[in-house]
Amino acid sequence: AAAEKGGYDSFMEKEIHDQPQAVADTLLGRTDAEGRLVLDEMNIDESVLKSIDKIVVIACGTASYAGQVARYAIEHWCRIPTEVELAHEFRYRDPVVNEKTLVVAVSQSGETMDTIMAVRHAREQGAKVIAICNTNGSTIPRESDAALYTHAGPEIAVASTKAFLAQITACYLLGLYLAQLRGNKFADEVRAILDELHQIPAKLSQILEQTKGQVQDLALRYSEAGSVLFLGRHVGFPVALEGALKLKELAYIHAEGFAAGELKHGPIALIEEGQLVFIIVPSKRGRDSLHAKVISNIQEVRARGANTLVIAEEGDEAVREYASEVIYVPQSPTLLAPLLTTVPLQIFAMALATSKGLDVDQPRNLAKSVTVE
Ligand code: G6P
Repeated sequence: AAAEKGGYDSFMEKEIHDQPQAVADTLLGRTDAEGRLVLDEMNIDESVLKSIDKIVVIACGTASYAGQVARYAIEHWCRIPTEVELAHEFRYRDPVVNEKTLVVAVSQSGETMDTIMAVRHAREQGAKVIAICNTNGSTIPRESDAALYTHAGPEIAVASTKAFLAQITACYLLGLYLAQLRGNKFADEVRAILDELHQIPAKLSQILEQTKGQVQDLALRYSEAGSVLFLGRHVGFPVALEGALKLKELAYIHAEGFAAGELKHGPIALIEEGQLVFIIVPSKRGRDSLHAKVISNIQEVRARGANTLVIAEEGDEAVREYASEVIYVPQSPTLLAPLLTTVPLQIFAMALATSKGLDVDQPRNLAKSVTVE
C-alpha cells in the first residue's frame, strides 16, 4: 500500500502531488502543429456545436464547482449563455432545455446517479450532452452524445483533488474549442490562453514545493478552529466553495464559502474575534480587476477581529498589511487562477484533518461515488 501511495502518507497527499501531471495529461495531444485545439475524440458534429444557444453544466459536489469555474470562462470566451446546476436540482425542476442546448455533465467517476438521471432527462428533451469524465467507459460518457475525458489517472481518496483540477482544465478546453469553432476574431486569444494553460503544471509544482510547508504550519496553528469561512469573488467564489467543502469533508469542521461581495449583505454578522477567514484575492492586473474590492473585504473582516489567511498572486505586496498571513501563488490569467488558488486550500484541509488524526482518504459517511439518488 505504501508503494501505491508513491511514498506519501495518504492517497490524498499523493493525488495532490499528482496534480501537475493531471493537468498536463489532460492538455496532452489536444492541439495540432499550428496550436489549434483538436477535440475530434468528442465525435460530435461541428454543425451541432455551432448551433447551440445555451450551455448547462450539471454535476454534483466538487465537480459542480468545476462547472462554476467553467461558466465564467465559457461565457467570456464564447459569449454563449451558460448555467451551472446541481444535477439533482436540475433533474426535478422542469428545466428549459431543447435541441439547441448543450448540456455538459461533469463527473470524476461517471457513475453518480444524480448526474446520470439528469443526463437522461436532458437527452429526453433533445439536448446534446457532452460528458467530462475521468473514468473510461463509465455510465455517464456511455449515455452521453460525446465525451471529453480528463486524464487525472485513478483517484482513490474519497474527496476529489486532482480530478477537480483536471475537470477545470477540460472545461477550459471545451470553452476554447467552442470559441475557436464559432469564433471569428478569436484565434490568437485562444492560442495565448492555451500557452498559459500549458504553463500551469510547472506553476503547480512550484506551489507544491514552495508553499506546502507554510500551509501545513498554518493548519497546525489553527487546528482548534471551530469554524472557517472562505471568501472569493468571480472565479475565486467557486474556489472558496471548494475550500469550504474540502474542510468539511476531511476535517469535519464547519466551513462556509461566500461570494466576497455578499459579505456585507449578511455573512459579516458572523465575524467575531478570532474567526478564521480565508480570502482568495484576484489579480491586480486586468481591466476589470476586483482586487481593490476584495482588499476592502479583508479590511472589513479584520476590523472585526478575524484572522485573515490570504491567497494572493506573487508580487501582490499590497495585501500584506491586511493579512494575518499571505500564501502566494504564481501569476496567471484571472480565468485560469482557480487551478492554482485551489491547491493551498486542499493542503490546508488535508493537513488539518491529519493533525486531528483523521483518515483523509476515507472520511466518515462519504462514498467515492454515490450510485443512489
Ligand atoms: C461524491 C464524492 C465527491 C464528488 C461527488 C461527485 O459525493 O464524495 O468527492 O465530488 O461524489 O462525484 P463525481 O464522480 O460525479 O465527480
